[in-house]
Amino acid sequence: MRRLARKWMRWFDQHARDLPWRRTRDPYAVWISEIMLQQTQVKTVIPYYERWMRALPAVADFAKARPERVLKLWEGLGYYRRVRLAHTAARLIMNQHSGRFPESFDEVLALPGVGRYTAGAICSIAFHQPAPILDGNVIRVLSRLLGIAGDPRSKAVKTKLWRAAEALVIAGGEPARLNQAMMELGALICLPRQPQCPACPLRRDCFALRRKRVDEFPTPAPRTAVTQRRFIALVVSDGARLLVRRRPASVVNAGLWEFPNVEVDVNTNNLRPSVAPFKILARAPFFRVRHSITRYRILLEAYRAELPAGSASSAAAAGAAWKTPAQIKRLPFTSAHRKVLRRANASSAQLTNPA
Ligand code: ADE
Repeated sequence: MRRLARKWMRWFDQHARDLPWRRTRDPYAVWISEIMLQQTQVKTVIPYYERWMRALPAVADFAKARPERVLKLWEGLGYYRRVRLAHTAARLIMNQHSGRFPESFDEVLALPGVGRYTAGAICSIAFHQPAPILDGNVIRVLSRLLGIAGDPRSKAVKTKLWRAAEALVIAGGEPARLNQAMMELGALICLPRQPQCPACPLRRDCFALRRKRVDEFPTPAPRTAVTQRRFIALVVSDGARLLVRRRPASVVNAGLWEFPNVEVDVNTNNLRPSVAPFKILARAPFFRVRHSITRYRILLEAYRAELPAGSASSAAAAGAAWKTPAQIKRLPFTSAHRKVLRRANASSAQLTNPA
């Protein structure tokens, strides 16, 4: 283990990417980067991380920031629950830890939105504690290197993998360097498809490679079925403003903005009852937007529509508000509806001049 860890770290010193969060040991910065990286790729995270650290350079700034501002900084990264939990954690650090980022593993783990992986990453990178990490990348590397078979989501296999990760981080003696070396090998060499085995510093030690069975590890998880969903979005313009609404608390994407919309049966032709009180203005969709999130394949059909004047059909009754393009630009939008907005803006001549 010690020999493996040493080789691994020497390779890391020569091949580590220069990532913005690697230039700091500030636990707040490490935490933000790890939360962003939980479900998002490095190249996507970089500009978000840099913008975030300029806007909210310390945990006190984050704790004080308005939720809308925080969501706007996160807009497009998805999985907004991450940032809501982190916001709660930032306030908790101010109130319960006097504004100092906690250093004990258990206190870090107790922060909302921080699981065992993220706590391990923060404690090893920022505080040099020998805390193991295990994410998708590390699972792949360790299962190949050590020949750990079986569904990595099962308890028994997970336990083996965590033990291996722990043995390595202890044997290495330099937790920040070793853990990041594991992440880096998974990101650059030990790829899911077409791993770059000839360039791997551990090629002579790799259980799977020596048996020419790299493609058998890790054991693939059973596939989850994809589900088709269809939404009708309504683009309502008064010539200068658009009708938009804010998603309520406690639903997915809570607090983000969107066009009024409803989910409809994938096969239905009769949209009128589902979009009431709105009235669709054209038979064909204005345009269509496709969006994939987790196991859902979403088709969003945008229709130009109006709210017939009078009685219960005012914007407020429909749960929506009129906003100018300049106002909309500052609001955090869901990714799917950001696409709708772009398409609607591209056709703004049609919007202000309905047929
Ligand atoms: N993935 C998760 N954490 C990471 C980190 N700190 N650097 C690069 N990739 C990562």
